[in-house]
Amino acid sequence: MSILALDLAKEAREAPKPALTEAQARSVIEIEDLRKVYDPAAPAVLDGINLSVAEGSIHGIIGRSGAGKSTLVRCLNGLVKPTSGRIRVSDQEITGLNIAALRSARRRIGMIFQHFSLLSSRTAAGNVALPLEIAGIAKSEIDRRVSELLDLVGLSAKANAYPAELSGGQKQRIGIARALALKPDVLLSDEATSALDPETTEQILDLLRDINRRMGLTIVLITHEMDVVRRIADHVTVIEAGRIIEGGPTFDVFAFPETVTAKSFLSSIVAHELPQEVTRTLLAVPTEATDPVLRIIFTGDAAHAPVLSDLVTRFGIRPNILHGRVDYIGGKPLGILTIVAEAIGDKQPAVITYLSALGLHCEVIGHAVRSVSAGSHRATA
Ligand SMILES: Nc1ncnc2c1ncn2[C@@H]1O[C@H](COP(=O)(O)OP(=O)(O)O)[C@@H](O)[C@H]1O
Ligand SMILES: [Mg+2]
Repeated sequence: MSILALDLAKEAREAPKPALTEAQARSVIEIEDLRKVYDPAAPAVLDGINLSVAEGSIHGIIGRSGAGKSTLVRCLNGLVKPTSGRIRVSDQEITGLNIAALRSARRRIGMIFQHFSLLSSRTAAGNVALPLEIAGIAKSEIDRRVSELLDLVGLSAKANAYPAELSGGQKQRIGIARALALKPDVLLSDEATSALDPETTEQILDLLRDINRRMGLTIVLITHEMDVVRRIADHVTVIEAGRIIEGGPTFDVFAFPETVTAKSFLSSIVAHELPQEVTRTLLAVPTEATDPVLRIIFTGDAAHAPVLSDLVTRFGIRPNILHGRVDYIGGKPLGILTIVAEAIGDKQPAVITYLSALGLHCEVIGHAVRSVSAGSHRATA
């Protein structure tokens, strides 16, 4: 555990917060019916957002460009005033605060940005020190905290470097150290890895997850990249045109997305949508000359079940693989396999019952025409 984490734990013991109801204790952010209208002639940018963020979680908020993500995050830290609705962060109601109260509430909320927002005229250490100086903390205490924070983000050696002398990943590490300077309850990240290359993105996400685990810091991760969510978010909320269209534990949303938008976001990561070359060949209705096409979703322990050999040995089916992939969501395997169940005959209900009993999700997504030489299927469209 880092010195900073010990420090936070000590503070928590010394200054017990007022007793919270059970529901409040579980969530660090509560958003109720949030609406934001910039231009009365245009649709609302946020329209009836209701959201709880569990304490200690990493909560991903994903949506396309223009969905309202940045507006949402700015409402959370009071930079944008909602048209209506309520927001609570920690035990503080954000909506309706005057400027002074808002300034103090913002100390509980750290924020990191896509373009880092560092002051070019200050060194790395000077940037991290800034919020501490503004808060009027004593110089000796500032020096101690800055050195702890630089150590936490692995940049002690760059204390005296200016932003222009740092790589993108190093600048974001400084951004993270600065955001943590006042020991916030929540860290808001608005596309913090969107300007970074894939390798640096991975390192920054690893750092955020490490901070989350070691300090129990709640992180809200705004992104348009599903891969960012896949790597570190425990929960995900999908927003589109200012509304929440889907949400839940990341694994569940990735395994069983409900909306077209979520499926399309996931298409580069999880094989929910079959390639056109395959879908073109499928018929909606079975005929004498077709075999069913099964899509089997393997999750958790069931991902390791020897399903294909079971289909062959128990049911005499010849599984013909059309498409398949195993992905890892937060370290848990998620496999999606699409097969033509050749020679399934009247055993289809028994097969589906058998697969369900193994904890696999199985559905018939179409029918493939048997070719004259049995064992292969041809295009019909
Ligand atoms: N200050 C503003 N004034 C007027 N319209 C804005 C303002 N900020 C954002 N918008 C509009 O709100 C919508 C959502 O923007 P934003 O919250 O930045 O979305 P995202 O971060 O998901 O890309 C966009 O249509 C954008 O043009
Ligand atoms: Mg944005």
